[in-house]
Amino acid sequence: MTAAKPPRLFLSPPHMGGGEQARVAEAFASNYIAPLGPQVDAFEAAFAEFTGIPHCLAVCSGTAAMHLALRCQGVGPGDLVLASSLTFIASVSPARQLGAQVAFVDSAPDSWNMDPELLGQALAALSAEGKRVKAVIPTDIYGQCADYQRILGVCAPFGVPVVADCAESVGARAQPQSERDDSRHAGAWPGLAASIFSFNGNKIITTSGGGMLASFDAQLMAHARKLSQQAREQAPHYEHAELGYNYRLSNVLAAIGLGQLEMLEARVAKRRQIFRWYREALGGLPGVSLMPEAATGKANRWLTVLQVDEKAFGAGPEALRQALEAENIEARPVWKPMHLQPVFAGCRAFGGAVSEGLFARGLCLPSGTAMAREDVARVAGIIAQTGARGPRGRERA
Ligand SMILES: Cc1ncc(COP(=O)(O)O)c(C=O)c1O
Repeated sequence: MTAAKPPRLFLSPPHMGGGEQARVAEAFASNYIAPLGPQVDAFEAAFAEFTGIPHCLAVCSGTAAMHLALRCQGVGPGDLVLASSLTFIASVSPARQLGAQVAFVDSAPDSWNMDPELLGQALAALSAEGKRVKAVIPTDIYGQCADYQRILGVCAPFGVPVVADCAESVGARAQPQSERDDSRHAGAWPGLAASIFSFNGNKIITTSGGGMLASFDAQLMAHARKLSQQAREQAPHYEHAELGYNYRLSNVLAAIGLGQLEMLEARVAKRRQIFRWYREALGGLPGVSLMPEAATGKANRWLTVLQVDEKAFGAGPEALRQALEAENIEARPVWKPMHLQPVFAGCRAFGGAVSEGLFARGLCLPSGTAMAREDVARVAGIIAQTGARGPRGRERA
């Protein structure tokens, strides 16, 4: 008889807090099933209060939020947009779909986020060539805020708006930069044109699918709101002077979001705890390190991400992924940088070696907030054994 497989350990599954069903029941009781309703209004207000970003628009995905943000910046055919290379494709696919060209900026090794110095060099080089950049899109990778203080400072002389991709950094904080500067939520910089957030099923909180566009700019957000609802003009009949989208979040899903938001602080604390458990279990292994936390903020540790030097450890990230998979545990390679993606062949890249190295050595470990310390120990145990079985591991034994 073969032993039953242990239950699957997913990378980052949804984790309901318990209050969601009552919120959904309220939506049902009032028959506000679709499309909009009081739960959407309440979710937008609660998110605005939590983040400190005054204008919030709940939409059907983070990708939709990015599309609206870029459309509101007037991004279109012939424009050039600069984005982080180390990101998920949804940071930049809306720019391409609007007809713009994209170019990529490499990561800084201490944060894995867009390197502000390299961004400055890229903007200067493009400006010297007579090319104007229409928008810059830094990503808060794996839930760590990019260095917006510096990025905004670098973009200001060129007059380039910054749209922050905070899809992964819900609940993360950017630390005070001075005595008078309170710790702010990810994306909550008044100098940003807009910030986008994701509530996709694998994120730190989820509405099953959903996103938020947020900004300090009331006018921009009024336009985004209009575009998200088929760009209807104010008239009793259906009048349209421009083309919009059907991008709003359903009232039922917003009800889930309200319940999830109540859990957010606890979820961030648990993800950070999971990171510490991994660090205790893996920190001493030769050639193994975990994603650094930059001095500019407090990451939400959406995923715990490992870097492994195959020569020193005895096994590389793909061997580890397969060993975990054989034990019914989901792990995932680090995002493949955008400048290496076939769909962006021919697009310009400023730097690239840092994100290439992170991709080559990286593995994202299961980080769901329902995990117990024993689950982390199980994952770490398989990683340690796999390294020990490799050639260098056998030498060490
Ligand atoms: C960095 C990044 N940007 C954008 C998105 C898109 O969000 P969504 O899946 O809600 O469209 C995601 C996540 O899926 C992401 O990780």
